[in-house]
Amino acid sequence: MMGEFPYLRMRRLRQSEGIRAMVRETEVRASDLVYPLFVVPGRGVRKEISSLPGNYHLSVDELVRECEQVARLGIPAVLLFGIPESKDAFGSGAYAGDGVVQQAIRALKQRVPELVIITDVCLCEYTSHGHCGVVVEDRVDNDRSLELITKTALSHAEAGADMVAPSDMMDGRVAAIRSLLDENGFEMTPIMAYAAKYDSAFYGPFREAAGSTPQFGDRRSYQMDSHNVREALREVRLDIEEGADVVMVKPALAYLDVVRRVRESFDMPLAAYNVSGEYAMVKAAAAQGLLNEKRAVLEVLTAIKRAGADIILTYHAKDAAGWLKAG
Ligand code: PBG
Repeated sequence: MMGEFPYLRMRRLRQSEGIRAMVRETEVRASDLVYPLFVVPGRGVRKEISSLPGNYHLSVDELVRECEQVARLGIPAVLLFGIPESKDAFGSGAYAGDGVVQQAIRALKQRVPELVIITDVCLCEYTSHGHCGVVVEDRVDNDRSLELITKTALSHAEAGADMVAPSDMMDGRVAAIRSLLDENGFEMTPIMAYAAKYDSAFYGPFREAAGSTPQFGDRRSYQMDSHNVREALREVRLDIEEGADVVMVKPALAYLDVVRRVRESFDMPLAAYNVSGEYAMVKAAAAQGLLNEKRAVLEVLTAIKRAGADIILTYHAKDAAGWLKAG
């Protein structure tokens, strides 16, 4: 039988790098990556984040320098998070005209205009209680939260953001943001919706970095239950119907089946967020000499792409882009 061993030998196409490159099905490129960054108040601040080694709290001036480097590496976009001077019950720093993220956007659009500025739209870094919305009687009130979340998205667009990314998981936020943006002349600002965002232990290092650990309770009444995948498809469908331009699955690695299902079910640009805990695991193992960091990172990113993601948000972006460039 010609289709069987010894006539068939799968190893023929694996015997040299040239042949392997010819039959390679998936390739991660620097242009697939988005680099998340944390902006803080002040000047000249560049402080390593202990829970995310190799990532920094940056003041706007330092952020501009960082972003110049990001752009030179061929990474097309950054995702901005803000750590405000002070927090309050209504997260007012999130939608302040002169908030940290708003200042960062203006500076970046002036200094690194080719870089796509995506902003994380959420209240949790700005609220004293650490929840992603308005708390009424110890519960996160969906509809009252929408008002502040949409205001935040609009203030980012007004400052010049190229894309807004709501991550709060409130119901109806994509439609609410779309209509407020459109009413204000920002009908061309795309929305990247954190559509299927799970309640996950893998956000641990981020919450330390952003100081956004909930002061009471948890996020289970708004973020998704990790046991569910059909629900993810409903969430994604709703966000598309509400006007999302890009949909996201988050986290990525423990949810590659969800990435695959969304890819097969919807013809939408799909992003996957390789979150802080996934990053920290690789960094910790590499620091202990347990694995080769470069190979592990490129394998992880390839897996996310192979599962069906078009866009990968990752703290490894700069390292990966450098390695991909070097070949
Ligand atoms: C804020 C937000 C979170 C992340 C992205 N946006 C934290 C959370 O939901 O608790 C997580 C990012 C990461 O872990 O890398 N709403």
